[in-house]
Amino acid sequence: MKFFLDTANLNEIREAAEFGFADGVTTNPTLVSKEGDVDFKQHIAAICDIVKGPVSAECTSEDTEGMLREGREYSQIAPNVVIKCPLTRAGLKATKLLSSEGIKVNVTLCFSAGQAILAAKAGASFISPFLGRLDDIGWNGLYLLREIVEIYRNYDWKTEVLAASLRHPLHVIEAARMGADIATMPYKVIDQLFNHPLTDKGQAQFLADWHKSGRK
Ligand code: E4P
Repeated sequence: MKFFLDTANLNEIREAAEFGFADGVTTNPTLVSKEGDVDFKQHIAAICDIVKGPVSAECTSEDTEGMLREGREYSQIAPNVVIKCPLTRAGLKATKLLSSEGIKVNVTLCFSAGQAILAAKAGASFISPFLGRLDDIGWNGLYLLREIVEIYRNYDWKTEVLAASLRHPLHVIEAARMGADIATMPYKVIDQLFNHPLTDKGQAQFLADWHKSGRK
């Protein structure tokens, strides 16, 4: 399973890249707005300088024409830019057209298996089911992910399943167990994956014993 960073923060991306945890990056308008008054295209270019895998840049137009304009423009920033289109009628029309031009599209805001089927049929390169946001309303995001992975396995579709809106380690572990192609997560979740109290305790004990025996 590939790891994508779900952030527009360059320091977090650099940090994850040092571990080899940044196979790609997903941004969205909310994440970019957290970085302050940055120039969007320059900021995406800066991310692409750090990460050579897919970097998602999201369209903010609401109509197909606008998404096509943005998609064509953003895809010129770097060869690894992927255009993010919402799972709306306009978004899937743009997905179909951009994909036919060889521009990769990540279809975002997917909340049902039916929507995931439509995205694959429209030629999306990635489908992003939002697990955490479904959990937030008392549904089960992992159940949706399982459905999508199961359905996609029945066909030769090229769309990769990108588990998104991950909020904690269990989302990542279960996504890996199901065979999701990619998990995109905030840096905080990577940190949480590291942590185990027995690792800290064991390491402290090993070092204490080493020094107690007079070794430096
Ligand atoms: C994915 O591409 C989205 O940017 C992201 O996963 C949304 O996560 P959130 O629900 O935590 O905002």
